[in-house]
Amino acid sequence: MGPGEARLDVARVRGLFPGLSDGLVHAEGTAGALLPESVVLAVASAMRVPVADRGGAFPSSARAEGMVAGARAAVADLVGGVATGVVFGPDPTALTYTMARALARTWRPGDEIVVSRLDHDANIRPWVQMAERSGVLVRWAEVDIETGELPDWQYDELLTRRTRLVAVTAASSAIGTRPDVAAIAARAHAVGALVYVDGVHAAAHGVLDAGALGADFLTVAADRWCGPRVGAVVAEPELLGELEPDKLLPVPDRVPDRFEGGTAPFELLAGVSAAVEHLAALSDEATGSRWDRLRTSMAAVAAYEGGLFEWLAQALRAMRHVQVLGSAARSTPTLAFTVAGMRPRQVAAELSRRGICAWDGDFYARELFDALGVNEQGGAVQVGLMHYNTAEEVGYLIDSVAALRPR
Ligand SMILES: Cc1ncc(COP(=O)(O)O)c(C=O)c1O
Repeated sequence: MGPGEARLDVARVRGLFPGLSDGLVHAEGTAGALLPESVVLAVASAMRVPVADRGGAFPSSARAEGMVAGARAAVADLVGGVATGVVFGPDPTALTYTMARALARTWRPGDEIVVSRLDHDANIRPWVQMAERSGVLVRWAEVDIETGELPDWQYDELLTRRTRLVAVTAASSAIGTRPDVAAIAARAHAVGALVYVDGVHAAAHGVLDAGALGADFLTVAADRWCGPRVGAVVAEPELLGELEPDKLLPVPDRVPDRFEGGTAPFELLAGVSAAVEHLAALSDEATGSRWDRLRTSMAAVAAYEGGLFEWLAQALRAMRHVQVLGSAARSTPTLAFTVAGMRPRQVAAELSRRGICAWDGDFYARELFDALGVNEQGGAVQVGLMHYNTAEEVGYLIDSVAALRPR
């Protein structure tokens, strides 16, 4: 059986999540997924045993070392890097600032970078701010406001011999669009630019491979794929070795530790490893190494979520009082919509009254929502499916949106 054919037994999967016992429809996973019991237990277990800091000659320090090494290996398996290229930090925002500060040291006045209007602000503002400080020109890749696509052909004109960096998302957590990152990265590499990919949203919804994307840097956040709130950036160790991050003197100079000043949240890193194990075990048909099981399971996740999403998107698009933002050919199971005569917060409150958790606002995709012209009216409502959502929930969601009427 090929990875694309593996299935997901959603009844079994739901049994793994204690949070589902609240009986609500959880369509708010884009900003933090529910936690499986295995992750909760891994974190709790790591807090029940002595764990000191790294670098000591005694067991509680060796345990801390093991938790860091285990989590690095797990994230490398998930997104296809090597363990020594996995940098941990509190969240993607903080990590991208760290990387932006380090990379900006290599820029010269007159250099250029390219950011995208599709991205979460966490993969825009750090670059724009560092560019302003360094005399570097910022060019913008624009979104087709009809479709929500980020056309890759525009990079032919945006890239020059002075381009040092292209920052682009693997998937928009606001409207779901998945740009053709590999095509963008190939163009960027042709002019010698580095590619910084935001994989925060994409990693939860299918196989994500840094090499296949052409990502020199790939950011992820474990809380988007059922882990604790820990962020990571994955890059080639050699590339990380060329950068000079701000760091304390006693922090080791080796990669990746030089990017990780301060004491790590060891118990959360134990949870990161457990979350990767959770993903690897999602398909009953997944066998072999963890790397293999992840590919089979994440392909099953993509197929399962994709089926539910197609139904949801079609049904919402067919409603006359609903406007779905964008219609990208490739999308995660996440969409944003507005309802005629109702502000997004009103819609979200009404859905909540019916037991459905859905976001409203701009989801920090401020540039995108300004371009789409929806920010004056409070942004949009957003629903994002995860591998623990069911067809029954999607049907109920569709009925609930259909029943919405301005008060
Ligand atoms: C696609 C994407 N990238 C980056 C971020 C930033 O993540 P954090 O707020 O955890 O730093 C988010 C947050 O929602 C996101 O959705």
